[in-house]
Amino acid sequence: MIVLVTGARSGFGLLIAVAAARAGHRVYAGLRDLETRGELEAAAAGLPVTPIQLDVVDPDQRRAAIDRIIAEEGRIDALVNNAGIAIAGFLEELSSEELRRMMEVNLFAAWELTRLCLPHLRRQRSGAIVNVSSMAGRSALPGLGGYAATKWALEGMSEALRHEMRPFGVRVAVVEPGPYATDIFGRNRQTAGASGDQASPYAAMAAKVEAVFSGTKFGDPQEVAELVVRLLDEPKPGLRYPLGPNVRARTWMRRILPFRVEERVVKKIVGF
Ligand SMILES: NC(=O)c1ccc[n+]([C@@H]2O[C@H](COP(=O)([O-])OP(=O)(O)OC[C@H]3O[C@@H](n4cnc5c(N)ncnc54)[C@H](OP(=O)(O)O)[C@@H]3O)[C@@H](O)[C@H]2O)c1
Repeated sequence: MIVLVTGARSGFGLLIAVAAARAGHRVYAGLRDLETRGELEAAAAGLPVTPIQLDVVDPDQRRAAIDRIIAEEGRIDALVNNAGIAIAGFLEELSSEELRRMMEVNLFAAWELTRLCLPHLRRQRSGAIVNVSSMAGRSALPGLGGYAATKWALEGMSEALRHEMRPFGVRVAVVEPGPYATDIFGRNRQTAGASGDQASPYAAMAAKVEAVFSGTKFGDPQEVAELVVRLLDEPKPGLRYPLGPNVRARTWMRRILPFRVEERVVKKIVGF
């Protein structure tokens, strides 16, 4: 298969690109800045992985990436919308620019890239769209409301797209990782500009959330990559694939329990 993976500089994207190539696919690995391809190239040495310039929020780069793949391969079989950012902050303190930036990367860019791929996938009457959502696309925790909003939106879009694509034989699936050790918690960690002010009415709550977060158990991101690669070939995938630490408890809580019970659990964990 010819596969495009976005956000392949680090984390899941890099691992998905490498694992997909190892599984026999020909991979185009999108990078926001091609100059940062060193780690990807080292990990993908000898494998059919082509790093390409693709800042997903840039319309010209989106079109150029798809045009190039079609020119070189004559087709595209799968798109993995993985590029994403998270800006932590309580909703009142998140600026509209910060929320919009997250929406641009996590939602609009995925939609625009999907739209560029669909004519090819429909014509071929086969293919896969795999969207990397999050556990936050299913349950929203304090301090991550903006990020959760982008992933809930991505999930809604994916669900509708799945219905729309069924007649064309194009498969749509959503991966919902819990916490995994990637650069999103390191080099790419971002908080709202207004956070961190000790005079903020949220300062004490933010400190409690931070304390819970610092005790987080992280999963091995390779398992997310392997799931995504499995979904590329899966003839009849499900829609949502939650995975990661505590995933069973969290999905079970969301499916079975009334929200009031979940609310009490969250209150107990975060302490407010
Ligand atoms: N790690 C987790 O616990 C977790 C859990 C649930 C969901 N996710 C989701 O998983 C996806 C991958 O994140 P990650 O955890 O692997 O973190 P990561 O290591 O920070 O990777 C994110 C990637 O997205 C790229 N990116 C950001 N903005 C971009 C843009 N405008 N154009 C193209 N690429 C862009 C980054 O490139 P640069 O570094 O060059 O900006 C980076 O390569 C995201 O959608 C994230 O929301 C992560």
